[in-house]
Amino acid sequence: MEILKCPVCGQAPERHDRVWVCENRHSYDVAKEGYVNLLSARKSGDMTGDNKEMARSRRDFLNKGYYEPLAKAVTESLERYTTDGDSVLDICCGEGYYTAYAARRLDRRFYGFDLSKNMVRLAAKRKTSAQFFVANIAAIPIRDGAVKAAFHLFAPFHAAEFRRIIADDGVILSAIPGRDHLLGLKEILYDEPYLNDEKESQAEGLTVIERVRVRGEITLNSREDINALFQMTPYYYHTPSQGMRRLDERDSLSTPIDFVILAYKKA
Ligand SMILES: C[S@@+](CC[C@H](N)C(=O)[O-])C[C@H]1O[C@@H](n2cnc3c(N)ncnc32)[C@H](O)[C@@H]1O
Ligand SMILES: [Zn+2]
Repeated sequence: MEILKCPVCGQAPERHDRVWVCENRHSYDVAKEGYVNLLSARKSGDMTGDNKEMARSRRDFLNKGYYEPLAKAVTESLERYTTDGDSVLDICCGEGYYTAYAARRLDRRFYGFDLSKNMVRLAAKRKTSAQFFVANIAAIPIRDGAVKAAFHLFAPFHAAEFRRIIADDGVILSAIPGRDHLLGLKEILYDEPYLNDEKESQAEGLTVIERVRVRGEITLNSREDINALFQMTPYYYHTPSQGMRRLDERDSLSTPIDFVILAYKKA
């Protein structure tokens, strides 16, 4: 993983069998699934609250293809902004659905990282050419300008780090929920569902150069899928009990999905 830098001293680490070591002897273990943990020992573990069960439920839901229109659109954008052999990073890759989708279709060097070890473990198990590591978005252990493109789906935004890691002519793709995203779900949960405001992240030093809208309609026909979708949303954490009960009674659910992919370049 030639894009990496040691999170402690900034030197490029080298791989020796099951461990990455830098010149200053800081070392990082490679897990049996093949990913490397680049958080210091003190900080490792799972701090994100995404437990194993939630990680698996997210993976199973995405594997069914409900969000494939987004995966396809991100892959098409990556194809336009990069060429063969370029390095592409999935920022906060979660359980790697989008990383794997793109890595199976484009001849680029794919990398992904997430703060959650449970998520990264599942991503590495997808067995594509993509390589994964555990890291924090606030201090991405990647050399300045080392990636041609990075994508960032439904995760915290960190403009300074995004700007630092992309090449001068590089691009950051970031998806935000569109106006109608999951309206069908919100109509069940809330008496007065609101539309999303399509708020773009404040990104000092980055400018939006393109917006691509991705829309679709999905139908879920099992309680398992309805619960998995609900768990993936922010509504899971603040829905009144009445709304919860209404959702519990449903065996099927249809809803629009609606995303905007923003492409940022260095300002
Ligand atoms: C809603 S999930 C999205 C995952 C993936 N991009 C997807 O769309 O399937 C948000 C992810 O951000 C990760 N995350 C949250 N805070 C983070 C941080 N400070 N550094 C790295 N990852 C973080 C979480 O572990 C989680 O996997
Ligand atoms: Zn070091």
